[in-house]
Amino acid sequence: MIRTIGIIGLGQMGSGIAYACIDAGYKVIAVDVKNDMVQKGVSYVHKMIEKGQRKGRISEEKKVEMIGLLRTGVELVEVSKADLIIEAVTEDMELKSRTFRELESICSENAILASNTSSLSITSLASGLKEVSRMIGLHFFNPVPVMRLVEVIKTMETSTEVAKNTMDFIKSIGKTPILVRDQAGFLVNFLLTPYLFDAMRALSNGLASVEEIDNGMKLGCGYPMGPLALADLIGLDMLYKAGNILFEEYRESRFAVPPILKKLVQFGQTGVKSGRGFYDYSDSDKPDARNLI
Ligand code: CAA
Repeated sequence: MIRTIGIIGLGQMGSGIAYACIDAGYKVIAVDVKNDMVQKGVSYVHKMIEKGQRKGRISEEKKVEMIGLLRTGVELVEVSKADLIIEAVTEDMELKSRTFRELESICSENAILASNTSSLSITSLASGLKEVSRMIGLHFFNPVPVMRLVEVIKTMETSTEVAKNTMDFIKSIGKTPILVRDQAGFLVNFLLTPYLFDAMRALSNGLASVEEIDNGMKLGCGYPMGPLALADLIGLDMLYKAGNILFEEYRESRFAVPPILKKLVQFGQTGVKSGRGFYDYSDSDKPDARNLI
């Protein structure tokens, strides 16, 4: 029975997952090694609760209950009593593997261990563990409070019970799970990454401007955001890492990182979170398409 959720990492994904879980009535213990990330995560959750109140979706009583459900800390050991632990730290194999090995040594033997990685292999993460059957992938989408899908990634060793309990948990927080095989990019990023990279290649080839490319897909195909704005939202550093992992796995040119993406990442222009990417976010209400060519 899943009652308490441990969340490791309070970046944009971890904070969003924490919000989604307390909204559904779960106890959450969220930790990050950096205290300022903990503070940022907590203020994001509070901001989302206040927005829910303004919209009339969250009553004063529910607000108090939600705030009471969230506990935070800076030590991994805080999550030792959780039934499901969702890791959402930086997309780095060594860091994530180390985190899971430490988690395995402090958690109950029935705890489910999940990674929110968007591109690393769940099999590789599980391979360093003593008990591989409890490891699963839980890939949430950005922004977590809004996006309804979660990919549930089962390795060949994940137990049927762990997969079922995890699928049920995702339904209980009001999201739709899809069960996917452990393969680079899982399903959604396998399809999405080449599309975003093609938009960047179209820009570099001078086919159209940032604004025209985004309007093309928004207005012509009914996508909620254009591909370059979406790339900025996801994080260009994330896409750069994902592209390299996908390319290494499949050796197909559609997964090759476009040079323009590499250059932006080299300058630390990682999209919305850094204030600049394909757009300039100096005025956050009115992002300005950049002339990058
Ligand atoms: N956090 C929380 N809520 C947010 C938000 C955020 N960062 N951004 C927007 N929202 C909320 C708004 O508050 C608003 O809520 P209400 O309806 O309750 O008022 C709602 O989303 C709609 O927002 P807006 O009206 O401001 O703007 P919009 O209609 O353009 O929607 C959007 C914004 C939801 C982001 C929409 O543009 C969208 O769905 N974009 C596509 C996002 C997408 O494809 N995400 C997947 C990325 S891939 C990924 O995450 C996986 C990976 O591994 C890389």
